[in-house]
Amino acid sequence: MSINKFTVSSFLKAKNNDEKISMLTAYDYSMAKILDESGVDSLLVGDSLGMVVLGYENTLQVTIDDMIHHCKAVSRGAKRAMIIGDMPFLSYHVSIEDSVRNAGRLIQEGNAHAVKLEGGKNVIDKVKAIVKAQIPVIGHVGLTPQSVNMFGGFKVQGKGEEQAKEIIEDALLLQEAGVFAIVLEAIPEKLSKIITEKLDIPTIGIGAGKHCDGQVLVTQDMLGMFSDFTPKFVKKYANLSSIIKEATNGYIDEMKSGKFPGKEHGFTIKEEVLEKLY
Ligand code: KIV
Repeated sequence: MSINKFTVSSFLKAKNNDEKISMLTAYDYSMAKILDESGVDSLLVGDSLGMVVLGYENTLQVTIDDMIHHCKAVSRGAKRAMIIGDMPFLSYHVSIEDSVRNAGRLIQEGNAHAVKLEGGKNVIDKVKAIVKAQIPVIGHVGLTPQSVNMFGGFKVQGKGEEQAKEIIEDALLLQEAGVFAIVLEAIPEKLSKIITEKLDIPTIGIGAGKHCDGQVLVTQDMLGMFSDFTPKFVKKYANLSSIIKEATNGYIDEMKSGKFPGKEHGFTIKEEVLEKLY
């Protein structure tokens, strides 16, 4: 049976047909498989990997090799969803050549279908060169976590006139440079509405309200598995932390009391073989 894969054209078609695009993060094979089988349109191998999976304080220590490693795993798990590989800090900041090579590695080695990078006018030359190399790009404006040290923390962006105008201008420049979608993170709902209406390409919101053409969440946040901090914009659709803890306690108790493993979990050996072992 052929699978109706979600592609760049599906993103654009969804915007034109007023259909919302679903995106979730994924970092490994088994979760990617579950999310893909659940019908999510797109899987973002985000550099949130650094915080959610690798336990770093922010995303700045994530490398292109980390991203390729996890993109490969996700790509083995997903059959229908479009896989977006996030470009980590410093992988598109040094030179145009370096940016194209790193984006290309996410596609060639990581098996991603597209890449995402943060920023606006400061990265336009890199975006144009990556698109010219036939690699689909998603932009990301508003709260761009790789700029955490410049922002002085993970703070809502675009509340003041000047900053809001800059975000609108960045989104328009990214569209002109050839990105096929833009992530809007942690900006006021009414600002994201203006941007979504101004653009021909879809916007994917995270903490940007309901008017975006699609939404993305960090899967571990959405499933209640990551408790270091929970941004205001997260909705938990499950509390897997407590389910996992309950199951783990059950395992520890049964294993310590000798209830597990039971006979049904073991393998037998013939008596005549056994006799020769003593
Ligand atoms: O790294 C990430 O997971 C992201 C999303 C939160 C948009 O960039």
